[in-house]
Amino acid sequence: MNGNARERPIGVFDSGAGGLTVLRALRRRLPGERFLYFGDTAHLPYGDKSPWAVRRHARAACARLVAAEIKMLVVACNTASAIALDDLTRRFAPLPVLGVVAPGAARAADTARARIGLLATEATLKTGAYTRAILERRPELSVVGEAAPVLVALAEQGWHEGPAAEACLERYLGALRARAPDADVLLLGCTHFPPFRPTLLRLLGPGVTVVDSADATAEEATALLKEENLLRPGSDGGLVGCTVSDNAERFRRLAPLFLGEEITEIGVEGSD
Ligand code: DGL
Repeated sequence: MNGNARERPIGVFDSGAGGLTVLRALRRRLPGERFLYFGDTAHLPYGDKSPWAVRRHARAACARLVAAEIKMLVVACNTASAIALDDLTRRFAPLPVLGVVAPGAARAADTARARIGLLATEATLKTGAYTRAILERRPELSVVGEAAPVLVALAEQGWHEGPAAEACLERYLGALRARAPDADVLLLGCTHFPPFRPTLLRLLGPGVTVVDSADATAEEATALLKEENLLRPGSDGGLVGCTVSDNAERFRRLAPLFLGEEITEIGVEGSD
């Protein structure tokens, strides 16, 4: 690739604001890179939709980023990664396309001793993608999954702590504990779950490590950029464009919870 290709931004896609957790990790590892973010807020949540609908929405949303001449596409949405990654990879070849399931599964598999508890959306769980990826790496492990859709709704309200969050987390953890009392890793297989980490750590106590895909994905993105000779060195990168498909005001309110800072300019563009 020539020098110009290196200057192109990296596209980051999620169904909403949760993917900003992945963007945060990417920015930390890749300070020279410029990022374009698209949140398909008009179709959130993806997690309760059929594979057909997720594929259709993900395609349309990613096509917007690809049209902006990105050099790599990061599918930060777990549900879209689990359902549509192959489709997106084929559709946008030869653009490098990276999902969050494989890096997150690898991180969890490398951390666990015996058993992994997995919280994700219903659509992600139904694919079995996390379990498959974990068992491919460490067949001796076992994975117990629980769909936690209410956490998406709570995070979307900014209720990531407090009594409602605690009651809900207790319920999901109780369901996991009943089936996997010996789980030593809890894998957060959804972009919306990292803000619950402090409460989760308190409820879980010692002995369980909480893992999410964000940092592992950023590590993999770095390796891929190096491999493709696309790395933009330096530290003058950042978020150069942020677009959602609906309700920019709500996205603006939520952004600091996931990104750790405000986003001032947010465009709105339909994705279908
Ligand atoms: N981004 C989705 C995921 O990571 C969570 C929100 C949704 O259901 O769209 O699975």
